[in-house]
Amino acid sequence: MADTEPSATPVPAIDVGDLLQAADGGRPILLLDVRNEDEVRAWKLEARRPIDTVYVPYFDFIEDEIASVARVPAGRDVVVLCAQGGSSEMVAGLLNDAGVPARNVRGGMVAYGEYLQPAAIPLDAAEASRFALWQINRRGKGCLSYVVASNGEAVIVDPMKNIEWFEAFAAQHGLRVTRVLDTHIHADHVSGGPALSAKLGVPYSVSAGDGFELRQPVTPLDDGQVLRVGGTGGVTIDVRVMHTPGHTPGSTSYLVGGRYLLTGDTVFVGSVGRPDLGGHVVEWGRMLFTTLTERLAPLADEVLVLPAHYAGVHELGADGVVSGRLGDLRRTVPELQARSADEFIASVRAAVKDPPASYAEIIKVNLGVSSAPIDRITEWELGRNECAASAKRAAALR
Ligand SMILES: [Fe+2]
Repeated sequence: MADTEPSATPVPAIDVGDLLQAADGGRPILLLDVRNEDEVRAWKLEARRPIDTVYVPYFDFIEDEIASVARVPAGRDVVVLCAQGGSSEMVAGLLNDAGVPARNVRGGMVAYGEYLQPAAIPLDAAEASRFALWQINRRGKGCLSYVVASNGEAVIVDPMKNIEWFEAFAAQHGLRVTRVLDTHIHADHVSGGPALSAKLGVPYSVSAGDGFELRQPVTPLDDGQVLRVGGTGGVTIDVRVMHTPGHTPGSTSYLVGGRYLLTGDTVFVGSVGRPDLGGHVVEWGRMLFTTLTERLAPLADEVLVLPAHYAGVHELGADGVVSGRLGDLRRTVPELQARSADEFIASVRAAVKDPPASYAEIIKVNLGVSSAPIDRITEWELGRNECAASAKRAAALR
């Protein structure tokens, strides 16, 4: 049992955003992770620079507090992490009582999984005079949303379920959201698209593709259709709809200003979207191969790919943005080297492992055929996305 009574004074805490900012900036933090070994193995907190971490499970502190406190190096800026911020708060309290200054990571890995960080996509001067484009990075999951803005209007692409965050972001930048888009029916997270569009009273578009019962009210979009963002008579930016089936039969990419391609899960910076999530790897794999080799072929090498996911912090650029020139990806992404659909499908099959069981449930929610309480959704969304065709390779890199 604990040898020290819990302190009555509040335990100092740090928010995930401040922790990531400090760790990204190279501040010498010591992360004390008190989760169980299997939880640690499944999902780690990552920053742009390696974080000095010690692992002492919470139960070790319960069983032998003095010995466990002694395992925490002295004289360090200690932050304590657990799954939801409860056990870590207790451990941080014990450490403080024992004379070891420590802060609790508020909300733990759940808060890390929900945290959203915006980054402006660098534009050239002519572009910047006409529009702005932000990538919203859900750091813990490796999910990316986008805000396209021009002349006081904005379109939001692939918003997360925390729709208040997106509303606040638009308000902060003086933007009126006119449309909400999803690139596809997501499997790894519940989309905020239907709720955000309903709340704002603006059109929502997503294509599920053949074979799916989509019960969300949507505004269908045609391949090649141009969506104009910006007030009439003023400056505008065009978003061109491109059907890019394969990851899902309805997958759609959006080309902003002729140069910025929001690919969803069609092409990532280091891989492509896995076509096996619907259980039709051959059929969807052929579709994806056609998309990659034919539908994207007319696009110039200078087009910048802005995906819906990334595999780890190694994919973040110096500007904090996950992006890749299409020309570079054509040379470097292994799946884009396949010479035939059969070769492509074989390489995808070899690379992927079974998706998490929760993906089937999440798809049903995103189709609108079922609903779930928020705590269940939070549980389903734990962990990094597993949407890339080279999940094993991405995992090996970490
Ligand atoms: Fe996906």
